[in-house]
Amino acid sequence: MFDKPAGHDQYLVKDEPYYELVGDEVALYEAAYSARMPMMLKGPTGCGKSRFVEYMVWKLKRPLITVACNEDMTASDLVGRFLLDKDGTKWQDGPLATSARIGAICYLDEVVEARQDTTVAIHPLTDHRRTLPLDKKGELIEAHPDFQLVISYNPGYQSMMKDLKQSTKQRFGAMDFDYPTEQTEVSIVSKESGVDADTAGKLVQIAHRARNLKGHGLDEGISTRLLVYAGQLISKGVNPEAACTMTMVTPLTDDPDMRDTLNAAVQTFFG
Ligand SMILES: Nc1ncnc2c1ncn2[C@@H]1O[C@H](COP(=O)(O)OP(=O)(O)OP(=O)(O)O)[C@@H](O)[C@H]1O
Ligand SMILES: [Mg+2]
Repeated sequence: MFDKPAGHDQYLVKDEPYYELVGDEVALYEAAYSARMPMMLKGPTGCGKSRFVEYMVWKLKRPLITVACNEDMTASDLVGRFLLDKDGTKWQDGPLATSARIGAICYLDEVVEARQDTTVAIHPLTDHRRTLPLDKKGELIEAHPDFQLVISYNPGYQSMMKDLKQSTKQRFGAMDFDYPTEQTEVSIVSKESGVDADTAGKLVQIAHRARNLKGHGLDEGISTRLLVYAGQLISKGVNPEAACTMTMVTPLTDDPDMRDTLNAAVQTFFG
């Protein structure tokens, strides 16, 4: 038996997350993990990337540390910093340092939101070195053998100003995620929200129509997450039309014509 590093157990996912297999993603990810390859999960918002990571860490029995990235984040937020307390200064590991020490899978959500000078902090951990220098502390962490870095990336949001550098991208293997096929999505919506398959099927049909509008007035299609929201409201007794407007129309767009178009699709199935 190995000694588990302190703090290891608190980051374990205890119960099996519900995850509907979409293709061969589990086998591919397992192979990538066994090579400790850093992974990039690409795909639109709400299509199942985070759920997949939760499922995989449960399956692999590894701790998970998730960081929601934003543009105000500094390298110190990831790596760690000295804090002042009554006894003087004390070093506190950031999530990346903790992950490297305890052998967690570190999931950086929406990594493209972070500034490039923050993102480069992951470089030494994502090549053959597998180390993390804590410059301010004068320590070099050698990553635990179980450590892996996973990042998510929504290809829709990128612009010339906001994208990962090639030197960052090319440190990762990548997998494309997308909305599940019709039958799988119906199962997911029904299981996650409690609506019957017939209602879930209608929600998915509406989503398919709306997804065709991507690039024609909509920046992004209706996510699986929003379909689950719609189903949850319907399960609570909300009238389906109102539930759809609240979850599948209003959050997506403020454009009156686009709202009319989406509401018309709702009418077709629930009118
Ligand atoms: N394959 C799946 N199995 C089970 N549930 C799923 C699956 N795909 C999507 N879902 C449902 O969709 C919801 C949203 O998925 P998730 O949070 O993983 O999206 P995401 O891709 O991480 O989005 P974001 O980029 O916005 O973080 C989940 O909470 C779950 O209800
Ligand atoms: Mg997510």
